[in-house]
Amino acid sequence: MSLPEGPATTSILIVDDDEVVREFMSATLEDAGFNVATAADGETALKLCIENPPDLVIADVLMPGMDGFQLCQELRQRPETGYIPILVATGLDDVPSIVKAFDVGATDFINKPIKWIILNYRVQYMLRTSRVAQELRENQVRLVSAKEAAESANRAKNEFLANMSHELRTPLNAVIGFSNVMHQQMFGPMPDKYLEYSKVIEESGTHLLTIINSILDLARAEAGRLTLNEQEVEIADVVAFCEKIVRVMAQRADVAFVPDIDEGLPHVFADPTKLQQILINLLSNAIKFTPPSGTVTLTIGLDADGDLMFRIEDTGIGIPADKIELALAPFGQVDSRLARKYDGVGLGLPLTKILVELHGGKLEIDSEVDAGTIVTVRIPRERMRAQEAVRVPGRATVAPAQDRFDWALARS
Ligand SMILES: Nc1ncnc2c1ncn2[C@@H]1O[C@H](COP(=O)(O)OP(=O)(O)OP(=O)(O)O)[C@@H](O)[C@H]1O
Ligand SMILES: [Mg+2]
Repeated sequence: MSLPEGPATTSILIVDDDEVVREFMSATLEDAGFNVATAADGETALKLCIENPPDLVIADVLMPGMDGFQLCQELRQRPETGYIPILVATGLDDVPSIVKAFDVGATDFINKPIKWIILNYRVQYMLRTSRVAQELRENQVRLVSAKEAAESANRAKNEFLANMSHELRTPLNAVIGFSNVMHQQMFGPMPDKYLEYSKVIEESGTHLLTIINSILDLARAEAGRLTLNEQEVEIADVVAFCEKIVRVMAQRADVAFVPDIDEGLPHVFADPTKLQQILINLLSNAIKFTPPSGTVTLTIGLDADGDLMFRIEDTGIGIPADKIELALAPFGQVDSRLARKYDGVGLGLPLTKILVELHGGKLEIDSEVDAGTIVTVRIPRERMRAQEAVRVPGRATVAPAQDRFDWALARS
């Protein structure tokens, strides 16, 4: 609730043991239209303030019993009176008592004998600032509660999605699996039309699975439940797996795919499935947004700092500098002819960034419209094993087969 606007509804409490001062002060402020109450000592003033907090208190310093300093302290300690502006009127025109008044919570001071005309202006000014401060406090309370409400709604959404993973995927596995069986004609030949339909069912189901997987991964990441399945990984294995998928995509798009992988790279301690996801998301973007006869280059090596670096470079349509942030946001797509021509919901890049960051790495985008895009991923050198670290025979250095299959199925 904000303070009343005009003097007529504004109440002021005057606390002074000198009856003459009380009389003069009341007369001046009533004349200006304020509602004035008075008290002759600190104890009475405190009681009045607690019962019915005024909009401003003018307090004398030297009073028998509770003095002006103590009154300030008492008022500031209580939530209902803590923000009342207090003007301390002091007959002691000395710096120590002014300083002490501020220390104990006074808002301002005025010297006695009081110049009555100044008192009115001083009071008006303090009331204005107090009103502004109160509005700020109220706004802050509103903002904090709106933020808390939004955060808890977002948490609920993420929890819901993270828990829905099984329910959403299970029926799709049946759709994709059985349509594939039909499409392969495992149990005998089918009419051409049915063959065609089963292919469409499989493709659509697979496409839906990709989207669901991305949404679930993002939700899990936001709920802090996307974790890494870390192991010692041979980069060449990850690349070999991605290459198979990417080559098909590149061929279909009539784009040249040029891998340039440093030989003898040390092992990296990472989640192999997520590394594949990173590479395939970025390479599929590069291919998708590059017109026919263009080139997509994948460079992998160590940078000058010894960090592992993936660089995906294309000769495509590029992203305007002011749209890069949008492209990195969930569901953010840069509106362009080619972007709209292709499938996709705008989850690949934000998810990739999260996966890179889960590894403690960084993702950077440099792009020029109609010239191309370079996405650079850096995985910190702390994750690299020494060059001589040899692969233990028989040890899994890439994701377990089922895990890779599910994911690749959804992507290819
Ligand atoms: N290499 C690129 N060249 C040009 N634009 C790109 C490139 N990579 C991403 N973009 C732009 O950023 C947007 C977001 O990319 P993102 O990978 O998140 O979504 P998508 O590829 O549209 O869909 P999804 O990845 O979910 O299948 C794209 O829609 C596109 O506008
Ligand atoms: Mg994408």
